[in-house]
Amino acid sequence: MTKILAFAGSTRRDSLNKRLVTFAAAKAREAGGEVTLIDLRDFALPLYDGDLEEAEGVPANATKLYELMKLHSALLLSCPEYNSSISGVLKNAIDWVSRPRQGEPPLAAFSAKVAALLSASPGALGGLRGLSQVRSILENIGVLVIPNQVSLPQAHKAFTDNGELVDEGLAKKVSLLAYELVDVTHKLSTSDSPTQFRQ
Ligand code: FNR
Repeated sequence: MTKILAFAGSTRRDSLNKRLVTFAAAKAREAGGEVTLIDLRDFALPLYDGDLEEAEGVPANATKLYELMKLHSALLLSCPEYNSSISGVLKNAIDWVSRPRQGEPPLAAFSAKVAALLSASPGALGGLRGLSQVRSILENIGVLVIPNQVSLPQAHKAFTDNGELVDEGLAKKVSLLAYELVDVTHKLSTSDSPTQFRQ
């Protein structure tokens, strides 16, 4: 079964991106994926600081996240857009998890993972501009990011009380993206794929 780690790039309790990734995670399960949905609030991290790393090493929560990511073949991420870019929380988590570890290959938590990206924003563009930054960062650390992506505009009005998307067209787009993530990850993990994609 394709193992997918899903989270939002926001720690906010009422995060719109948490709502969207929860919806997308349900769709990935329907598509046959085994999804672990986590909250970055449970992996609180200090801002990356080279002196702190030298003095105390990588924080325990960064190692927890690193180990968890290694156990999964795919990432399902819903990313807030801050000033047209990635949220600080998400970038900081990526930075800590990307740090080299003795006896481990570089970027072991990221390389040969497949990712699908979503974004949610109260604004008209749905956080679309931030996703190009997230995509670029992930691709540079060895993640294969699926070309398709979904941005949810006016996200504060987009959900029903039980967490479904009101707009059926957008719900279908999320389902398709979740299906693609499961399908592409599964195909890459089969025997004809490059070694690094095998599970
Ligand atoms: C924002 N927000 C925002 N929205 C957007 O569509 N484009 C943007 O460039 C920004 N910039 C931005 C910067 C900062 C510092 C904050 C705090 C917010 C609004 C943002 O989309 C909104 O707060 C979302 O609700 C954040 O995501 P979560 O926490 O709801 O998942």
